[in-house]
Amino acid sequence: MDKIVNLAKRRGFTFQSSEIYGGLNSCWDYGPLGVELKRNVKNAWWRDMVQGRDDIVGIDCSILMHPKVWEASGHLAGFTDPLVDCRVCKGRFRADHIADSQCPMKPSKAPGQFEKCDLTEARNFNLMFKTFMGPVEESASVVYMRPETAQGIFVNFKNVQTTARTKIPFGIAQTGKSFRNEITPGNFLFRTREFEQMEMEFFVKPGDDDRWFDYWVKERLEWYVTLGIRRDKLRLRPHAADELAHYAKGCADVEYEFPIGWSELEGIANRTDFDLKRHSEFSGKDLTFFDEETREHYTPFVIEPAAGADRATLAFLVDAYDEDVADGESRTVLRLHPQLAPIKAAIFPLLRKEGQPEKADAVYRALRPHFAVDYDQAGAIGRRYRRQDEIGTPFGITIDHQTMTDDTVTLRERDSMAQTRLPIDRLIGELAQRLAAPWSR
Ligand code: GAP
Repeated sequence: MDKIVNLAKRRGFTFQSSEIYGGLNSCWDYGPLGVELKRNVKNAWWRDMVQGRDDIVGIDCSILMHPKVWEASGHLAGFTDPLVDCRVCKGRFRADHIADSQCPMKPSKAPGQFEKCDLTEARNFNLMFKTFMGPVEESASVVYMRPETAQGIFVNFKNVQTTARTKIPFGIAQTGKSFRNEITPGNFLFRTREFEQMEMEFFVKPGDDDRWFDYWVKERLEWYVTLGIRRDKLRLRPHAADELAHYAKGCADVEYEFPIGWSELEGIANRTDFDLKRHSEFSGKDLTFFDEETREHYTPFVIEPAAGADRATLAFLVDAYDEDVADGESRTVLRLHPQLAPIKAAIFPLLRKEGQPEKADAVYRALRPHFAVDYDQAGAIGRRYRRQDEIGTPFGITIDHQTMTDDTVTLRERDSMAQTRLPIDRLIGELAQRLAAPWSR
């Protein structure tokens, strides 16, 4: 993980939030390359979950919602983690993670195992961030920062269903920020207090829910494989009954083998009709669906694939990281799926003379409306290739002496380092074709 964090910082994928003030724990900013990578992850999700399907539509809800939402959803009463404090070192730990935690005074032991530890009883700590709406800070104006994007979808179920005229089965998808006052955030982007989710609620007829649950579990695992994650680094873990969230009948996690061990990447849950029924009860509004064929009203069941954009970005970074030897020199290479790579191609003049920089600049400007491209003329060509390999740029285009006579360039491929020669006027088509092709490591 240290190697990934260092590379991410050095090359401008991520920076610690408010770094010049000493940083804000567990909050991260995405730099120029990171913002492109994460945007590509979210765009791939949106393309595959919304635009590429005729049974899912999108939505974008506000982060602040009516406080009743969180009463109805059960978050106010039940979205808690058990918290334990140490009276001596003032450390705070999740009671259910204590065996895997380190005592700050004696890191070789778990909290409570060192003779000087003095732990409190566990108490439930609500993970929702509170703020106030309007100028008066009183209990009547308390609002919460949403801890999941899902609730915006449930409360808009009727709005979307009637305006988009969707019929069951259908889904509503949303990406956006969520906030949780995690007791033990950490491991870089893995667990933070502010993060982005990519969630979809798929509404089905009661009785069809098990079938759709199986469908979405398979579909979601394959999504990561299609985007280049090695299959042997992914696995499914069904939840045991005592792990299930208060709303769920079943849940399976897609887990990835992070450097911290196998951990949740995405959860797929059968949320039953819990949320729609509760919102109907608390709001007094009818949230049933009328089936025109059978002439019956029913409350749909919901299958929810819930992913994290930051956690997925971390998994793509970790899985892509590689070190090998190129031309007798060791190189770091990010073997990102070309569709996720922040920059698709870098353009290099071999020499800074003979009109090569001007020619390279013309190629760069011709490609820029079509792809995210970079131009680099600084240093030896080998070093320029390495700089791009390290950020995952799949293609390098070199303008050389021959280009000046026949308008051809070399196209270098990041993974194989193979070079092919082709005319400049074929570059756009060739790159488009290579970027659309299936890719795996
Ligand atoms: N609506 C259901 C829900 O929110 P979740 O398993 O709590 O389920 C879904 O969250 C996904 O959101 C997780 O699989 C993870 O990818 C991401 N996520 C949750 N908490 C996170 C955190 N503190 N930091 C980063 N990502 C988080």
